[in-house]
Amino acid sequence: MSEPKKLFIKTYGCQMNVYDSERMAEALGGQGYVETQSADDADMILLNTCHIREKAAEKVYSELGRFKGLKAEKPDLKIGVAGCVAQAEGEEIMRRQPLVDLVVGPQSYHRLPEMEAKTRQGAKALDTDFPEEDKFEQLKRRPKAKRGPTAFLTVQEGCDKFCAFCVVPYTRGAEVSRPVDRILSEARDLVERGVREITLLGQNVNAYHGAGPTGDMTLAQLIWQLDKIDGLERIRFTTSHPNDMGDDLIEAHGTCDKLMPYLHLPVQSGSDKILKRMNRSHTAESYLRLIERIRAARPDILMSGDFIVGFPEESEADFQATLDLVEEVRYGYAYSFKYSTRPGTPAAERPQVDPTEADDRLQRLQALITRDQRSVQDSMVGREVKVLFEKPGRLPGQMGGKSDYLHAVHVDDADVEVGDLRRVRIVDSAANSLRGVLA
Ligand code: SAH
Ligand code: SF4
Ligand code: F3S
Repeated sequence: MSEPKKLFIKTYGCQMNVYDSERMAEALGGQGYVETQSADDADMILLNTCHIREKAAEKVYSELGRFKGLKAEKPDLKIGVAGCVAQAEGEEIMRRQPLVDLVVGPQSYHRLPEMEAKTRQGAKALDTDFPEEDKFEQLKRRPKAKRGPTAFLTVQEGCDKFCAFCVVPYTRGAEVSRPVDRILSEARDLVERGVREITLLGQNVNAYHGAGPTGDMTLAQLIWQLDKIDGLERIRFTTSHPNDMGDDLIEAHGTCDKLMPYLHLPVQSGSDKILKRMNRSHTAESYLRLIERIRAARPDILMSGDFIVGFPEESEADFQATLDLVEEVRYGYAYSFKYSTRPGTPAAERPQVDPTEADDRLQRLQALITRDQRSVQDSMVGREVKVLFEKPGRLPGQMGGKSDYLHAVHVDDADVEVGDLRRVRIVDSAANSLRGVLA
């Protein structure tokens, strides 16, 4: 038997890319590849890329440049670019960086095996189609090997919302939901392999409307189906859009024990003028009322969000409205980004905010968010929470995991194994994690 070839995948961007990277590795497994953690001994390097902000896209080219020496030493090494930069730039990538052998978009990676074979014959391979066939139907069943206690599962892809700043509708295409039975069988497979927590993924996951046995199901209905799987202990989902938060999903947060009290619900800005220009089709007020309803269903839910500062024509008063909204919501986690101009999106053509002003706003917003994150995390001290243990900590005997609220928790000298779900009393809160003792 010949030596297995080695595949090195580096993943950028969102969780959907993490999921796609796993599936790409599985697809190439059939071609005799095993994964390696280092580019140096790889026979194929795949960068699974993100196009969301300019910096993310540029990183890809600087990373590719670094492979020049490797490729010179090892002419058989194949280098591929996958993901959203591949979709957005296509052939341009090979023009700009001729050492690239393969470019594959996020909707066509089920074709990787044939593409890889083509590169082995010395040709370049490019596929950035949005094919008619569903890639998930084409991909082989997932292997049965044991795996860690948490997993991502993509249930919906693409986006029809066209926020004025965002490339996702162009790189991932139109919104599509996977059928319920396929998701349930993938979830059962994952549970058989040791998974106890599944995070359902989609760019607009709460717009899910996949085909079920008697018609389309909502995300809440899908969650109730998953709830019946023995051995699956926790369900999460991300990312949600405020306009797709159905009543049944809000209610499930109060009634489904397996659905975790954590909700990532990006708002982007607290100014109605800016929200309108972003094409978000909700207001700051409607967002706040929505959170009130969610908190009525599940009072202890931890809210998380995303913000963009320095969007074209954002004034100091608009920015102040964002700070006000953050004060009101008190996020447990929030992610803030300086607006990045993306070619081809409507906002790219508009008058831009002075970059130093935008930097200053980002710092002020981040200071406020950090304060809230810390105070929400500190408020866990003295409480008992459930922790799913995921991996040994840095010190001998230490084990680390996540609470229901997604806080990192570690326990010293804990008599627990990876995959155990245990009650823990929180005794201390440090910068980025909590310390607890088994209850
Ligand atoms: N589908 C998700 C998020 C996709 S991108 C949603 O609608 O919430 C993740 C985050 O990146 C966005 O929430 C937004 O805050 C940020 N983002 C997207 N485009 C951006 C841009 N051009 N500049 C800066 N941040 C951006
Ligand atoms: Fe981008 Fe808006 Fe779609 Fe989210 S909802 S992926 S921010 S266009
Ligand atoms: Fe980035 Fe594409 Fe995800 S642009 S954030 S990898 S959908």
